Amino acid sequence: MTVSVCAPGDVPALVASAAALFEEDGGRRDPFMDTGWPAREGEAYYASLVADPACLCLLAAGGHLIGRLRPPDPLRPGAVSAVLESMRVGPEHRRSGAGAALVEAFLGWARDRGANDVKVTAYAANHGALEFYRAQGFEPFEVVLRHRNEWLSTVDSAH
Ligand SMILES: CC(C)(COP(=O)(O)OP(=O)(O)OC[C@H]1O[C@@H](n2cnc3c(N)ncnc32)[C@H](O)[C@@H]1OP(=O)(O)O)[C@@H](O)C(=O)NCCC(=O)NCCS
Repeated sequence: MTVSVCAPGDVPALVASAAALFEEDGGRRDPFMDTGWPAREGEAYYASLVADPACLCLLAAGGHLIGRLRPPDPLRPGAVSAVLESMRVGPEHRRSGAGAALVEAFLGWARDRGANDVKVTAYAANHGALEFYRAQGFEPFEVVLRHRNEWLSTVDSAH
């Protein structure tokens, strides 16, 4: 299994994997997620990430990882922050270490750039991803709470 850094010619593969992630993850778990966004805007967005030295775009095992360095935050002096923005492994390659290899490459890239604060966000309902991230050394830090009263339930059921 090879982890490769995206070249400009790899943008279509990145867009395809990102679109599949939108369908599988956000599209199922967030009623407001626009799953058509990658097809409409993905080419330009991911091409800009591939060209950005503050971003890491990797491909492996039918999937991808996108990481990026965050600008300094004056409220958190001393933090050099990196975020694992998005990742996915092709369904037929899962549970064979590809995800761990992608995260290892990202952590090495972030470490080489002085990052001392590395985060990832996942849906609370994505138990597999949460277990996976725990296995890679991540642990809960902040929690987003979403109100589920009758008004919000009505909105949810409309989607
Ligand atoms: C989450 C994901 C990237 C993991 O990739 P992967 O290649 O299957 O992960 P690995 O094989 O490297 O797993 C390493 C370890 O993480 C843990 N792990 C991975 N997937 C898991 C799951 N579904 N349930 C529980 N633990 C899991 C295990 O400890 C595993 O080691 P093991 O197989 O020896 O038990 C992959 O399942 C995926 O693409 N899911 C759909 C997209 C997604 O949810 N992306 C994350 C969005 S935040």
